Amino acid sequence: MDKKRIKTELLVHDLKTPIAIIEAGINSLMNNDEKNEPLTERQIKVLTRTLRNIKIAKGLVNDILEVGRSSEGIIDNRRCILCELLMPPMIEIFDLTDHSASERIKACEDINSLKKELSDKGIRLNMDEGLWEKEVYVDPRKINQIFRNLTSNAMKYRKNTIDIHVDIRKNKDQGESLYISVKDDGEGIEKIYHQKIFEAYFQIEDEREHCVRGHGLGLAGILILIEDMGGRMYLESGEGKGARFSVTLPLGVCSI
Ligand SMILES: Nc1ncnc2c1ncn2[C@@H]1O[C@H](COP(=O)(O)OP(=O)(O)O)[C@@H](O)[C@H]1O
Ligand SMILES: [Mg+2]
Repeated sequence: MDKKRIKTELLVHDLKTPIAIIEAGINSLMNNDEKNEPLTERQIKVLTRTLRNIKIAKGLVNDILEVGRSSEGIIDNRRCILCELLMPPMIEIFDLTDHSASERIKACEDINSLKKELSDKGIRLNMDEGLWEKEVYVDPRKINQIFRNLTSNAMKYRKNTIDIHVDIRKNKDQGESLYISVKDDGEGIEKIYHQKIFEAYFQIEDEREHCVRGHGLGLAGILILIEDMGGRMYLESGEGKGARFSVTLPLGVCSI
């Protein structure tokens, strides 16, 4: 790894400490650890918004470090079950926009209750019941990051609904692949941008207002993760027709 990149990644890594201190400070104010006067409603609102943004900052730092690790060939495969790959990103996404929905999603114990909660939020989850506890051998942090980025983009650009498909498919060589697709019903992406949007810092000029302006790094980052894991990502979209991002990832074979 070249020196310049090590320096940048060290800087990003060191951001974790001040972020953790800010988070601990806000938490202690909110839990009133110092036994101060109770907070006013306005103060609670401000602190809640601050905490939400601290979570975003933490997520970004971890994402950048994960892409760096991946580029160095570090793949942390472990045995996990499919619901462990899907639940954390869903909880995180709603944590930022609708805290009570995020709590309800966290409490879901099976696929049917999760499907119900998500459908109330305009998200259709298409996944066989039997796959919920299906054991796979993958790098969970990378899959979480891929799924979170695709779903949060779809949430940002959808008109009303999102369709998510999750499946395990047999490859020609008898191995298995994890298939995830996320489709929204938004404005879609013109053909001329289909390559460009996977480049770092590229964003389509957009007069429409989206609540959080991104950085054009999400798709570029997850493409690195996917390719490093031997997977592929495809985009199907036309102007006005929504966008479907689909990912296939070969599943490792666990030898222990
Ligand atoms: N589901 C989608 N529908 C329409 N445009 C999208 C969608 N996902 C991504 N894009 C376009 O691709 C660009 C890059 O996306 P991304 O790399 O995730 O960056 P960011 O979310 O930080 O803007 C976005 O700015 C947007 O223009
Ligand atoms: Mg994004």
